[in-house]
Amino acid sequence: MAVQEGVKLLGCSAWSLADNFDWRAGYTVRFGIQYVNLTTQERFYKASFFELAHLFRTYIQR
Ligand SMILES: *[C@@H]1O[C@H](CO)[C@@H](O)[C@H](O)[C@H]1NC(C)=O
Repeated sequence: MAVQEGVKLLGCSAWSLADNFDWRAGYTVRFGIQYVNLTTQERFYKASFFELAHLFRTYIQR
């Protein structure tokens, strides 16, 4: 909506209120849009990443 109203948006960062719960849960609960193997540090995109990417592609104009 902001972009449609003329806001010049160059980028964005995915974040949610749910991410704040990691302060209490540490690494025991997996939040975020990537899964991280804590042994190898490999990162894997979760389905929510692709949903957000689709949303950004749909609503952000170049
Ligand atoms: C992390 O990667 C290692 C090495 O491939 C694997 O043995 C382990 O099962 C993985 N851990 C998780 C939680 O996926």
